[in-house]
Amino acid sequence: MQKPHHNRSYRSIPPRLSHAFVVRLGTMNITVLNHPLVEHKLTVLRDKNTSSATFRELVSELVMLEAYEATRDLDVVDKPIETPVAPMIGKHIAEPRPIIVPVLRAGLGMLDGMTKMIPSAEVGFLGMKRDEEHPTQQITYANRLPEDLSGRQCFLIDPMLATGGTLVAATHYLAERGAKDVTAVCIIAAPEGIQFVEEHIDPSIDFKLVVCAVDEKLNDKCYIVPGLGDAGDRLYGVID
Ligand code: URA
Repeated sequence: MQKPHHNRSYRSIPPRLSHAFVVRLGTMNITVLNHPLVEHKLTVLRDKNTSSATFRELVSELVMLEAYEATRDLDVVDKPIETPVAPMIGKHIAEPRPIIVPVLRAGLGMLDGMTKMIPSAEVGFLGMKRDEEHPTQQITYANRLPEDLSGRQCFLIDPMLATGGTLVAATHYLAERGAKDVTAVCIIAAPEGIQFVEEHIDPSIDFKLVVCAVDEKLNDKCYIVPGLGDAGDRLYGVID
């Protein structure tokens, strides 16, 4: 038998299916992008030697690819136009406009790609962090959102779905303002986080999740394995 060239164990990527696949888990749909371009970009993104500048660029590109799947159910209305050849009824994104909500800080890295794909969307902001005294709970430390989100299609963006606590809290925060239709766009998810979301999300919310990849597990520090490290630090540098 041929010997491996190295003595480290490299985690391989599961075999590729031919399309993005959608899994129904409880009341939620999970779309996993499944595409050679996504796999290539994700591999460069994960590499610890990739610079912050390249990392930011790749996050933007990956989000644009995810946006294509995430907006599949976007509400549109008929729009009559005239082409140079003939009149026709086209489509136009419906009112009220969709809203994109990055979860601070790492979600900001996904905003540029998302707004490129839906330039007419409104943008809100949500800052959440773990409550150190009650680690299973989240504190909202910043929010810039319309008071009324009823009838709005909301896109929550946060690169890493790790424990799932922030995503559930952020979705419920939007739901308290009337949102009933929430799509979370993450780059990498841990199975533990997906399970937590499935078990804790209010089933009356039409909740969908779009990810580039589902990784192996969380480690004891709640980092995704193999993951890509701390997404905020890799986007913006270490603050402390
Ligand atoms: N947040 C990150 O930035 N990375 C992880 O692996 C988990 C949570």
